[in-house]
Amino acid sequence: MVICNVVGARPNFMKIAPIVHEMQKRKIPKFIVHTGQHYDRQMSRVFFEELDMPIPDIFLGVGSGSHAEQTGRIMMAFDKVCMEREIDLVIVSGDVNSTVACALVAAKLGIPIAHVEAGLRSFDRSMPEEINRIVTDHLSDLFFTTEESANNNLKKEGISEELIHFVGNCMIDSLLKHIGIALEKSPWLTFGLEPGSYALLTLHRPANVDEGEALKSIVKIINEVSRSIPILFPLHPRTRERLAKGGIPLAHAVNTCEPLPYLTFLGLMAKARFVLTDSGGIQEETTALNVPCLTLRSNTERPVTITSGTNRLVGTDHEQISMSVNDILKRNWRSGKRPPLWDGKAAARIVDVIEGLHPVKREGASREK
Ligand code: UD1
Repeated sequence: MVICNVVGARPNFMKIAPIVHEMQKRKIPKFIVHTGQHYDRQMSRVFFEELDMPIPDIFLGVGSGSHAEQTGRIMMAFDKVCMEREIDLVIVSGDVNSTVACALVAAKLGIPIAHVEAGLRSFDRSMPEEINRIVTDHLSDLFFTTEESANNNLKKEGISEELIHFVGNCMIDSLLKHIGIALEKSPWLTFGLEPGSYALLTLHRPANVDEGEALKSIVKIINEVSRSIPILFPLHPRTRERLAKGGIPLAHAVNTCEPLPYLTFLGLMAKARFVLTDSGGIQEETTALNVPCLTLRSNTERPVTITSGTNRLVGTDHEQISMSVNDILKRNWRSGKRPPLWDGKAAARIVDVIEGLHPVKREGASREK
């Protein structure tokens, strides 16, 4: 059985790395395709180095563009790969454009698809990721889930229970493997910060950064929060561009920097007093690290981070945010419990399932041009 592992954007790397390592350990034939959705060194290459991931066998180099352009370019390029190579299973992860694009190609060619982090739903179709999740799930043949809500969502959408494998969280596999070395690096020192005495901010969702007024309003509250605690703000390229374009000023105590490498960010997150974010994965990582997280969104596809973890949805509501920051600073925050199976063994469970498969081609689809 030959397995094609797809990656494209930053959050894919730490989800696929432990699976690739597990396959290497078990000598399972595999290769890695990188779509090139993220291409800056800080957004891509550095993750391969730090996660000790093999260099991708195939690099599609699609780059940025509108959703349709990016998705279309990935599809055309990945189609060629699937035509040229013998592939028995395509593994895609998460909810980025690379995920749905490669799933669409594989499905049309009759190549079975496994979706890692299947079944998550925000029930908010204004998020591009929600569309990517729904479409990818309905094209997939095998579903690897991270939390109970995902199992329920898939069942409600008519996915047969025997195809759903509740395996835990590969992103947390990577976190648990690297947290020791991340802390040893003491990355806070580079920024002149003390453990436990700063907040970490990430912001990149189109809904928060693409529209000038929304971004201005978020920055206003961030500037206010920075009067109580210094904030470190690694800037996604999209956000950097929007802040510059809008001429939106950040307060002195909001310290910006380039997107950070995995280990630096992990270490900083672990020792932050709290994290403010609109990311999906960071809600999970803070829960695993037991660090308070304020999510600058009105919904989450990862509800276990709220029911068991350290996450609170605050949207972009000034009162909610300042009340929550006060709660945290007064240590009035619930201690999180790590969700079931977030134990560093998700990738091993996934590869156990894959090893038990026999290569099955779907009927009615063909790789003939
Ligand atoms: C993508 C994912 C999002 C994920 C995020 C993590 C989709 C729909 N969105 O959003 O779910 O949370 O990655 O970062 O797939 N850019 C660079 N260098 C790069 C990559 C991007 O400068 O290496 C800039 C480009 O101007 C680009 C913009 O960032 O147009 C947005 O990149 P894109 O991959 O389209 O979406 P993200 O916002 O990164």
